[in-house]
Amino acid sequence: MGEREHWKNRSTFIMAAVGSAIGLGNLWRFPYIAAQNGGGAFLIPYFTALVTAGIPIMIIEYGLGIRSQSSANVAFGDINPKLRYIGWMAIMGAFVINIYYCAVMGWALKYLFDIGSISQWGSSIAASKTHFFVDTLGVSDHPFHFGGIQWPLFAGLLVTWLTIWQIVKGGLGRVGKVLLYSVPLPVILVIILVVRGLTLPGAAEGLNYYLSPDWARLLDGQVWLAAYGQIFFSLSVGFGTMIAYSSFMPRDTEIPNSAAITSFANCAFSFLAGFAVFSVLGYFAVASNLPVGEVAGSGPGLAFVVYPTALATLPVWVKGFAALFFITLLSLGIDSAFSLLETVATALSDKFNMSRHKSTTIVALVSFSLGIPFVTQAGILWLDIVDHFILSYLITFVGIAECIIVAYFLGVKNFTDEVNKTAEIKLGKIFGIMISVVTPAMLIVSFVTSLVQEFKTPYEGYPISALILIGGGSLLIVILGAAILGRANTNNGSERR
Ligand code: TRP
Repeated sequence: MGEREHWKNRSTFIMAAVGSAIGLGNLWRFPYIAAQNGGGAFLIPYFTALVTAGIPIMIIEYGLGIRSQSSANVAFGDINPKLRYIGWMAIMGAFVINIYYCAVMGWALKYLFDIGSISQWGSSIAASKTHFFVDTLGVSDHPFHFGGIQWPLFAGLLVTWLTIWQIVKGGLGRVGKVLLYSVPLPVILVIILVVRGLTLPGAAEGLNYYLSPDWARLLDGQVWLAAYGQIFFSLSVGFGTMIAYSSFMPRDTEIPNSAAITSFANCAFSFLAGFAVFSVLGYFAVASNLPVGEVAGSGPGLAFVVYPTALATLPVWVKGFAALFFITLLSLGIDSAFSLLETVATALSDKFNMSRHKSTTIVALVSFSLGIPFVTQAGILWLDIVDHFILSYLITFVGIAECIIVAYFLGVKNFTDEVNKTAEIKLGKIFGIMISVVTPAMLIVSFVTSLVQEFKTPYEGYPISALILIGGGSLLIVILGAAILGRANTNNGSERR
């Protein structure tokens, strides 16, 4: 293979990282998680998680990508050859997440075509629920009752994959050009939505619900876990994405400040997105005489049920704002989706000396095919289960491993000395304490608590067989995939060319 590709400059790299981080997770997940976990008080654990885990792990991932000039498997394998298996687990995590992430993009695409009739299907929460769960998803009563393929969603999935395949196979040059639009566009659109939201009567009610601190919740361990989970997912760390992206930067790249910029940009955007969502929910709650808590809904329901219903009651420009909202979702998701594809494709290229074109095509084809269960009538059930298992266990496991590998295998001093050569903000003792003690300890507590919870109550009341086969199965695919890819011989028989 020829010379490794590089980003045009540091700003393109940071923009790519911000594009990956800012995704669907910011517009619907953050506001809802914040509201459910103490509102304004949630910002304290959230900020703590950002500083004690998010930024340190971002620094680790940038450092590993830049020093190895390669994907997670080589970045870890350089430190100790056996560790490459953990690198492959991270990459497999990106592979699995993208399978359903693109299915959600498909929902948003389908909704874009439904806007013409929003005044009918969005006339009440009940009508909107029917539109989402019955008409769109056709949800079945059991994860193993697939029913049929929902063809509009299948089409959405296909279009999403064709799009990100086209972008990624065109190389970093093409990715960089798309980022020039896909990063600023959702920011501008969300600002428009915030202005619209804040000028609606009742907006203050929504913001009260979003921001008023429920201090007592700070004593609740679950709230802290939710904060760590949200930070990981939102910053795109833990699955090798940031390792892959930073590996396209030269060795003398500045790390700590770049990591801080990426992380703060992402979290500021989440905070802003909360205003867009809750102002509109407040308006809707007041207009329909309901408590805000009741209309806030949860998870996918927020973006696809409650928010469109609220928009449908706007005095003017209903279709315009609805279109704006779904375009925002799509433009948010697209650069996260292609960063995930990039992570897996780059790893295959690096390992098998394969052209980018070939690796991207293979990964896209396989992932698209595996995405088909997610566009059947059991799709959302599969999505919910896979998402829960991968995010609760794999991402924390990789996070813990990254800290331990850098702190104890590579050595804090080696790592900080290397990074500090070019650092604008020098890493000091605090960073060492974070990655060798605080971050892994927090993550281990989070991991164990989730595990205990798992055995106490089946997640969301799903049948145990489905949890074991689908949730356990997705983890098994990750582990098997890592075992096979870590072993398979490359052209020249070694993981590092
Ligand atoms: N951060 C993205 C979001 O908020 C999702 C995402 C992209 C991601 N790449 C990732 C999550 C890697 C975990 C790991 O929507």
